[in-house]
Amino acid sequence: MNETRGKKKDKPLIFIAEDSPESLKALYQFLKTEEYRVSAVGNGKQALEMIPELLPDLILLDIMMPEPDGFTVCEQLQNDPATREIPIIFLTARTEKADIVKGFELGAVDYITKPFNGAELLARIDTHLELKFSREALKELNATKDKFFSIIAHDLKNPLQGLLSAAEVLNSYYDAFNEEKKKELIRRFYNSSQQFAALLKNLLTWSMSQQGKIKLTPQKIAIAEIIEENLDLVKENAGKKNITLSAELERNAFAWADKDMIRTVFRNLLSNAVKFTNRGGEVIVKTRIVENRIEIIIGDNGVGIDPEDIPNLFKVDTHITTKGTAGEKGTGLGLILCKEFVEKNNGTIDVVSTPGKGTTFTTSLPLYQLINHGAQPH
Ligand SMILES: Nc1ncnc2c1ncn2[C@@H]1O[C@H](COP(=O)(O)OP(=O)(O)OP(=O)(O)O)[C@@H](O)[C@H]1O
Ligand SMILES: [Mg+2]
Repeated sequence: MNETRGKKKDKPLIFIAEDSPESLKALYQFLKTEEYRVSAVGNGKQALEMIPELLPDLILLDIMMPEPDGFTVCEQLQNDPATREIPIIFLTARTEKADIVKGFELGAVDYITKPFNGAELLARIDTHLELKFSREALKELNATKDKFFSIIAHDLKNPLQGLLSAAEVLNSYYDAFNEEKKKELIRRFYNSSQQFAALLKNLLTWSMSQQGKIKLTPQKIAIAEIIEENLDLVKENAGKKNITLSAELERNAFAWADKDMIRTVFRNLLSNAVKFTNRGGEVIVKTRIVENRIEIIIGDNGVGIDPEDIPNLFKVDTHITTKGTAGEKGTGLGLILCKEFVEKNNGTIDVVSTPGKGTTFTTSLPLYQLINHGAQPH
């Protein structure tokens, strides 16, 4: 969910549209450095064809070009929602005020007069790239906030409503109910409070993690131990459904990660496997070492996941939750937390699933290695 700029693109892409071959070559060579990727065309028509495909991070646009000219290109890019947010800097040999004003009116963010001054060009490009990336980061943050509030509004409302109505009925009619009815209402009260507490707990953990408030303390961890600990935790539920739990674990494999976070990850993955597997099914955990990583594979032969839901499993805005095979309820935030925690530990999490056949979650974590006297690359 949280792609950082560094991860998303290695270098910003700058697009140049300029009809003078000398200027184009000079700009291309000047900008194609360690810092940027550059794409260049010699007329407005090609610019309009290529920009929506490439979606560059910034455009340097000549005004005086054969049809369509830079003003028209700018106008069309501004009218297309896909390209509207890309900053455009006009390149102009003229310095007439009217041209510059028209450029700004059409939505350009800046202009550079030709022949360009290298230092000035770079300073302007960097300023506008920074602005663009901050705008994008803010947008993402806002979207996360929106999602957070929508979860509170929609998902906390139901268990709270359940709590309130059970409490109200008990309060008003306690004496009128027989023992059986009282017990049922108290059970409802308990179930709703449990669901409410679980949702609140996950929501708070997720929000603290989003704000960077959860400290990451990586250490050497014995993966087999953590898996066995968690198998113990789900043993009771698995037993109730007659589900066989088995494990093939590398004994001497250690990961370099935060123990509490990794514990949470496997607790959820294992409880999911048991929750979404029918009576008499199987859950198998395997670990294996692949180069400098350790892979933990949790497979079940349960109900599987609809292929349409797979891309949304780890997204908070579409957080998906279904009841388990014995009607177990969940918050739908478990996998979101898993992904967040695994990625914080430089790991990855992947899922393969076939409806009706089963699901396999593969988590990969950095292997602890006794290199550099035990120092780890963190
Ligand atoms: N092993 C699995 N087999 C089938 N479906 C799964 C499996 N793991 C997850 N899912 C699907 O993904 C959804 C989201 O899982 P996640 O762990 O995020 O939430 P949850 O289990 O519903 O709630 P919580 O983890 O808070 O109890 C589940 O509700 C289920 O629909
Ligand atoms: Mg879960």
